[in-house]
Amino acid sequence: MTEHAGDSTIRIRRMAAEDLVQVVEIDQVSFSMPWPVRSFRFQLEENPAAALWVAEETGPAPKVVGAIVTWLLVDEVHIATISVHPDHRRKGIATRLLCAALQENARLGAVEATLEVRERNQAAQKLYNRFGFRQVGRRKHYYEDNGEDALILTMYNLQDTLQELEGC
Ligand SMILES: CC(C)(COP(=O)(O)OP(=O)(O)OC[C@H]1O[C@@H](n2cnc3c(N)ncnc32)[C@H](O)[C@@H]1OP(=O)(O)O)[C@@H](O)C(=O)NCCC(=O)NCCS
Repeated sequence: MTEHAGDSTIRIRRMAAEDLVQVVEIDQVSFSMPWPVRSFRFQLEENPAAALWVAEETGPAPKVVGAIVTWLLVDEVHIATISVHPDHRRKGIATRLLCAALQENARLGAVEATLEVRERNQAAQKLYNRFGFRQVGRRKHYYEDNGEDALILTMYNLQDTLQELEGC
């Protein structure tokens, strides 16, 4: 699963313990309430419901430029976190991470996908809308740092919807 982005190549692969330093760095520049490294480590090593991928820029000095974590709860996949390094945004990397994660979870039996997104996070909402996620609820004052609401988005009929998405 590779594609050229500029003069480098991005591939999506499973996260490994060696990626954690880079993943945490991306998380810290992407979120106002980043996860501590122990949270990623727990997801990677101890949570059987979790699946984790990174987007890696290949070449002589491979570099992690994005990451996604999902939880599969019976037949529902939850997007726990997704981020792309600011220098690598708008190149389709989050799209590729989401495609890979949703495809794999659908293969494992997920029939719908859910996530929470900040009400003012327009970039992420546009991304999710393109995948067919729709708002199904709201958690008032969900985010502790600024009291922002979370929108709950869901994508139904995961397998069919993914098939209809071009290039996914
Ligand atoms: C949201 C995020 C993951 C998107 O990553 P990305 O790799 O830039 O996304 P993609 O390139 O795959 O974008 C796909 C589409 O989403 C929409 N989109 C993404 N970023 C956007 C932005 N800043 N403004 C408007 N639309 C945007 C566009 O429709 C885009 O398609 P286009 O570039 O052809 O117009 C990235 O901005 C990020 O890491 N943000 C901080 C962390 C975060 O908010 N995560 C989501 C938490 S719910």
